[in-house]
Amino acid sequence: MARVGNSIIKGIEIDEVVNLLNRAYADEWLAYYQYYIEAKVIKGIMKDSIITELNQHATDELRHADMIAGRILQLGGTPLLNPKDWFTQTNCGYEEPKNFDVLAILEDSIKGEQCAIETYSKLTDITKDKDIVTYDIVSQILADEVEHEEDLQGLYEDISEFKEQIKESLK
Ligand SMILES: [Fe+2]
Ligand SMILES: [Fe+2]
Repeated sequence: MARVGNSIIKGIEIDEVVNLLNRAYADEWLAYYQYYIEAKVIKGIMKDSIITELNQHATDELRHADMIAGRILQLGGTPLLNPKDWFTQTNCGYEEPKNFDVLAILEDSIKGEQCAIETYSKLTDITKDKDIVTYDIVSQILADEVEHEEDLQGLYEDISEFKEQIKESLK
């Protein structure tokens, strides 16, 4: 544990920061798995370009989990040790893919990103001016989640438009 490094944290309990980070850590693992499995089961038009995007997101979520685990350890905490705890600690839950169509998969993922944005936005508010190092990490992750939402939304609109065009041309 970084003793002097942690002494600069002011106005917030380290245990509280560790708890909040562990909740985000649970989210990241569940998001990682959600993207991983979505990329395997997805069906429908333009699926190849979406698979590339989903796999990229999976890689990002795992990197986020790694960034958070590193910070939890620096703070003298322990990242969640049992995957069972992911479900009790998560903020955003897990959207089990039930409909494998490209648009349904994108909808599930967009929902997840919107929840991640809300979670990290709260974390930046809580740590701002109190725990600068955690603030910096959660801000970086927040920027990635905003980009994720934007990318998925763009794909969703492209595919919806493409489907409309096909419908029109068949009239
Ligand atoms: Fe993430
Ligand atoms: Fe994300």
